[in-house]
Amino acid sequence: MYTGKARAYTNIALIKYWGKKDEHLIIPMNSSLSLTLDAFYTETSVQFDENLTEDLFVLDGQKQDTKQTTKISKFLDLVRKEQNLALFAKVDSQNYVPTAAGLASSASGLAALAGACNEALDLQLTEIELSRLARRGSGSACRSIFGGFAEWQKGDSDQTSFAQGIPSDHWEDELAMLFVLVDDGVKDVSSRDGMKRTVESSSFYSGWLETVEADLATAKQAIAEKDFNKLGEVTEANGLRMHGTTLAAVPPFTYWSPESLKVMQLVRSARQQGLPCYFTMDAGPNVKILVEKKNLSTLKNHLATHFSKKQLIEAYAGPKIALIPLERSEK
Ligand code: ADP
Ligand code: DP6
Ligand code: CO
Repeated sequence: MYTGKARAYTNIALIKYWGKKDEHLIIPMNSSLSLTLDAFYTETSVQFDENLTEDLFVLDGQKQDTKQTTKISKFLDLVRKEQNLALFAKVDSQNYVPTAAGLASSASGLAALAGACNEALDLQLTEIELSRLARRGSGSACRSIFGGFAEWQKGDSDQTSFAQGIPSDHWEDELAMLFVLVDDGVKDVSSRDGMKRTVESSSFYSGWLETVEADLATAKQAIAEKDFNKLGEVTEANGLRMHGTTLAAVPPFTYWSPESLKVMQLVRSARQQGLPCYFTMDAGPNVKILVEKKNLSTLKNHLATHFSKKQLIEAYAGPKIALIPLERSEK
């Protein structure tokens, strides 16, 4: 029996990954940049066991259906093939993040699974190799191997597409992200389906590709200069452009809800009152607001009359993936 367990934190992209060049290998159309966060994470254990007759996937204590389990099996097959291993596995995962709500559960979830496999089979992968493996499960997961800021260089092959940490002189420790939870239910259009439909049918997609690499360069420059407004402005603009592409897809769709628009307006009004803060959204209606730590409580006060305490979740820069020692009973 081979067992391993890992914890990985979610990351939110400031410059978004949106579109695949290779759907099988998960090679993206564009590079992206993210901040790993401490508030949301996944813990996953994997056990390859000769007594199992099929793969099992338990998420938050619930045995998952065939569709979800097949996704996990396909990921495990990558590792099994590489290792010439013919054992089924039990994957037991706990999400400390709402699943499939646009809060990046696939990033922490698949990074944690990759980390658990690395440990269970003693693969001794480097961080870059682990990032490449996590990428095969969910693109955004390749960035959750790293703490703080990470950049996923799109590359053009399995070998060359991976994330790396960005040198930042610990600037991320001065930043915060406020999550405004307007709906933590499962979204209608998954990230995978949403980006596929956009690439295949949106007449706005070419505009996205024309601007995103310049946005990435601006974001990296802002990090190097510790220029908060520059980073915030490009984050907000890039996120809006990503969401713009979905409106021209066939059929069209949007991840925004009326509540999302309300949060965006509140961020703009906070800025007009002299509070530097900027929003971004992923494939879901929840809004994330980038703010300097020193201004976080003022921002929360600005939102407090509109949202409950439970809806406002503070997050700070989070750490890289970590192994979790197994309890004796789990070995
Ligand atoms: P999100 O915004 O939460 O990342 P996605 O649509 O990208 O939403 O991905 C959601 C999918 O990610 C889930 O349906 C499931 O297949 C997968 N997922 C989420 N959490 C885990 C986990 N802990 N372990 C394995 N897979 C997970
Ligand atoms: C909008 O990584 O969830 O959050 O690779 O198909 O699993 P798959 O998609 P996923 O897409 C994330 C899209 C995004 C932007 C981002 O995180 O960069
Ligand atoms: Co996801």
